[in-house]
Amino acid sequence: MATNSPGKFLTIEGGEGAGKSTNIEFINNFLTSNGITVLQTREPGGTPLSERIRNILLDKSENSIHSDTELLLMFAARAQHLHEVIIPAIKKGTWVVCDRFTDATYAYQGGGRGIEMQRIEKLESWVQGDLRPDLTLIFDLPIEVGLERAGKRSEPDRFELEDIEFFKRVRDTYLLRANQSPDKYAIINAEPELSEVQKELTCVLNKLLTTT
Ligand code: TMP
Repeated sequence: MATNSPGKFLTIEGGEGAGKSTNIEFINNFLTSNGITVLQTREPGGTPLSERIRNILLDKSENSIHSDTELLLMFAARAQHLHEVIIPAIKKGTWVVCDRFTDATYAYQGGGRGIEMQRIEKLESWVQGDLRPDLTLIFDLPIEVGLERAGKRSEPDRFELEDIEFFKRVRDTYLLRANQSPDKYAIINAEPELSEVQKELTCVLNKLLTTT
């Protein structure tokens, strides 16, 4: 879409095995077929440097990373990603669809690891200034179902090795944040079969387009 107005910033979240990748592809196709230029990216990652940081963060042999180091690495990767990719794209009018963003930091480092939320808020303001997602879609499903689906997929990474209590705290944090700001979040039930999930997703996306 030729436009002089800035693009939107959509972020996609969910626990392990929530079907983010398949649904992100669906979102991109939906937006593109509505004439929108889309940039798909992910966190941690999205630039060569940030992808290198991702490799460290996900490497299960890195078993001595302190939770503060983990938090700072997430924001280091994010700072580079924002300056190199996300902000320039939004300025050009491109819609950015990002697989995870700062809500994941609140959920995993805050909820999961137990880091004080105020410390994350400080880093968020420092690294992002006023930039926040226009909308965050959370693909939500019971932990046990998600872990079973994720387990069937591939070798677990450093996060996927965490115990069920960790993932319960992650999920609770996502849901709490979404319920606190319902106009900024859409919770999508990721438990039913894909066609059902995508029906709900289509409603959310149609609403987004009519309010844009
Ligand atoms: P992914 O496998 O969904 O791409 O995400 C990589 C992992 O990184 C996932 O387990 C969640 C974790 N993560 C955090 O812990 N904090 C963050 O800020 C982000 C973006 C991801």
